[in-house]
Amino acid sequence: MTRPYSICLVAGARPNFMKLAPIAHALQAGKSAAREAGIDLRFSIVHTGQHYDANMSEIFFRELEIPAPDRHLEVGSGSHAEQTAKIMVAFEKALIADRPDMVVVVGDVNSTVACSLTAKKLGVCVAHVEAGLRSFDMGMPEEINRKLTDAISDLLFVTEESGVRNLRSEGVPSERIFLVGNVMIDTLLRNLKRIESPEFAPSEAVRTICGTGGRHAVLTLHRPSNVDHRQTLAPIWGAIAEVGRNIPILFPVHPRTRGKIAAFGLDGPGITMIDPVGYLDMLYAVKGAALVITDSGGLQEETTALGVPCVTIRENTERPVTVDIGTNYLTGTHPELILSAAREILSGKGKKGVVPPLWDGHAAERIVDLLMKFMK
Ligand code: UD1
Repeated sequence: MTRPYSICLVAGARPNFMKLAPIAHALQAGKSAAREAGIDLRFSIVHTGQHYDANMSEIFFRELEIPAPDRHLEVGSGSHAEQTAKIMVAFEKALIADRPDMVVVVGDVNSTVACSLTAKKLGVCVAHVEAGLRSFDMGMPEEINRKLTDAISDLLFVTEESGVRNLRSEGVPSERIFLVGNVMIDTLLRNLKRIESPEFAPSEAVRTICGTGGRHAVLTLHRPSNVDHRQTLAPIWGAIAEVGRNIPILFPVHPRTRGKIAAFGLDGPGITMIDPVGYLDMLYAVKGAALVITDSGGLQEETTALGVPCVTIRENTERPVTVDIGTNYLTGTHPELILSAAREILSGKGKKGVVPPLWDGHAAERIVDLLMKFMK
């Protein structure tokens, strides 16, 4: 006799998909062990539709072999309140219909907080993957999402030691906190083999800059605080354009940023703007880069895992391990600081870094083992 236990995995925005993939795969692989333990383990995937362009969403499902979502809430864009509220209303209906035993949310996007709050209010257990990270900057929408999600989650799966300390200092009981490693790095390690295989061919857009045998840099920039206002974006852009005089820069542009760059009339001869790329193209471009310049959360970790130096255009980071032992430089938005870090790196004196503990490709398996104990 087996007892059913159903888990609902939530994904909404681009940075969620690479975190969800290894959890879905580990749950699938864990079904037979669960059966032996008397549990009929089932899982479903809900896509909120926060990101909806094919190259912001669908391509990741295809490339990372994530099962097609069982439900698509199709909420789309909107103000924060509008988007969060739309997700909550739609997700509540899905939960009432499906009645899962547990909801698993990942990361720090609006879908994360909206779905954890909805689940908790319906009395459904919530697990948060990538819990405990703190920038201590409540001006960041993601910091609000992180703190609120952690405050109501039953199980908190953490990527780095700082996260454990943060949760403890916020009064979260130790028995709910698990340092498991980094599921996004699970995905990175799994897919490295694919981009290194002779069968892999990057897209034309990526190949023009990254497949030429010369050095290149990769840029991503989309944080509203960096791109929404001309007086902030223009000096950042000036510094990056200066870097672009020394090394060609590939810039896959987030739809939000493309609009702003056009509106502010910015351009830089050394910077090649292309549409957002899929996971494998991005991994190929970043792995081969001499330098990454970014304001993303995830890329700070991916570059540290790959040993590629990274200049992070932010005043703070919720991922301090990447600065303390990894390859990350936190420069803020000051052009001189961006330039001096880039120069140090391009002169060959950049941080070499080491990979943080437990970023070994097995974080999702650890999570599923812990979930299994929780189900019993
Ligand atoms: C979201 C996350 C951010 C993450 C980023 C990665 C929150 C609060 N922010 O920010 O943490 O780093 O995703 O990509 O959840 N748009 C499209 N097509 C899409 C999606 C968005 O054109 O498929 C445009 C729309 O104009 C939209 C804007 O991008 O209004 C912003 O999208 P939104 O989901 O609100 O936030 P992101 O800036 O993408």
